[in-house]
Amino acid sequence: NDEKAQYIEKIKLLLIEKNAVLVAHYYTDPEIQALAEETGGCVADSLEMARFGKQHSAETLIVAGVKFMGETAKILTPEKSVLMPELEATCSLDLGCPIDEFSAFCDENPDHTVVVYANTSAAVKARADWVVTSSIALEIVDMLESEGKPILWGPDRHLGSYIEKETGAKMLMWQGACIVHDEFKASALRDLKLQYPDAAVLVHPESPANVVEMADAVGSTSQLIKASQEMPNTHFIVATDKGIFYKMEQANPEKTFLAAPTGGNGATCRSCASCPWMAMNGLKSIHDALVSPIGKEINVDESLAAQALIPLNRMLNFAA
Ligand code: 13P
Ligand code: SF4
Repeated sequence: NDEKAQYIEKIKLLLIEKNAVLVAHYYTDPEIQALAEETGGCVADSLEMARFGKQHSAETLIVAGVKFMGETAKILTPEKSVLMPELEATCSLDLGCPIDEFSAFCDENPDHTVVVYANTSAAVKARADWVVTSSIALEIVDMLESEGKPILWGPDRHLGSYIEKETGAKMLMWQGACIVHDEFKASALRDLKLQYPDAAVLVHPESPANVVEMADAVGSTSQLIKASQEMPNTHFIVATDKGIFYKMEQANPEKTFLAAPTGGNGATCRSCASCPWMAMNGLKSIHDALVSPIGKEINVDESLAAQALIPLNRMLNFAA
């Protein structure tokens, strides 16, 4: 509509004027993803967002995602100004892993290598030996496991169980979960599969183990989109935030994408799996952040950032 179109035009001018680039996650609204692509920014999974922000020459990054993504961008490029449309946009995994308790857990197990998911605060990353995203978690734990090191993992228990199953590692685990992915129901997914027996099931590994078990492909948001392009199926059942459908449908206009059930029966519901914090990102808030960065700028304590940079760089170097 008119108002949206006006914001889009204004944001395009502001990005140029402020030497800024828009870095968006696949869970943000379609218009934000489209704008990021159209203006030379990126729409990506969390590992690619980190890489893109680090490599881009813009003075300002505007990160449309959740807080840990903005913090990661700031830690990797402290010389840049990192803006977020909504500083309150956090993540249940981050909220469920307070630094004091997590640090105590690490202190109780001093012989363990601490591996944390990227969906954590800067302070938790600073306490870790390794940071991983869902796209690289298996490879990194596999490498650590082959070195025979005991591993302490946090905070997502479902991703943790998936990693254990795939790598054979036995990890000490923090018991966090994503409130969005935790809602997918295996029995209802089985019912939906009966209606669409030829559909391939694509699952983000933050989902419960019995849902992951039914998957034809498991991976990060980018990896799931890639699978939707590479697999020959005409129908897909997708267990992750609804934001991903925009890119999946754009990349595969001839294929049909159904949302994995979050309710009791095999009903597919497009709006059910929706991250409330990702949904805080909007065109108006992007516009406002670019006009006035007050209250929209991510800052990370310098010594904390220096410490968190070590495990983040380990991940980026490993993934390179
Ligand atoms: P990706 O790294 O797969 O983009 O995941 C981030 C996330 O928050 C999933 O819920
Ligand atoms: Fe965090 Fe879940 Fe939202 Fe991803 S979908 S940002 S893991 S709450």
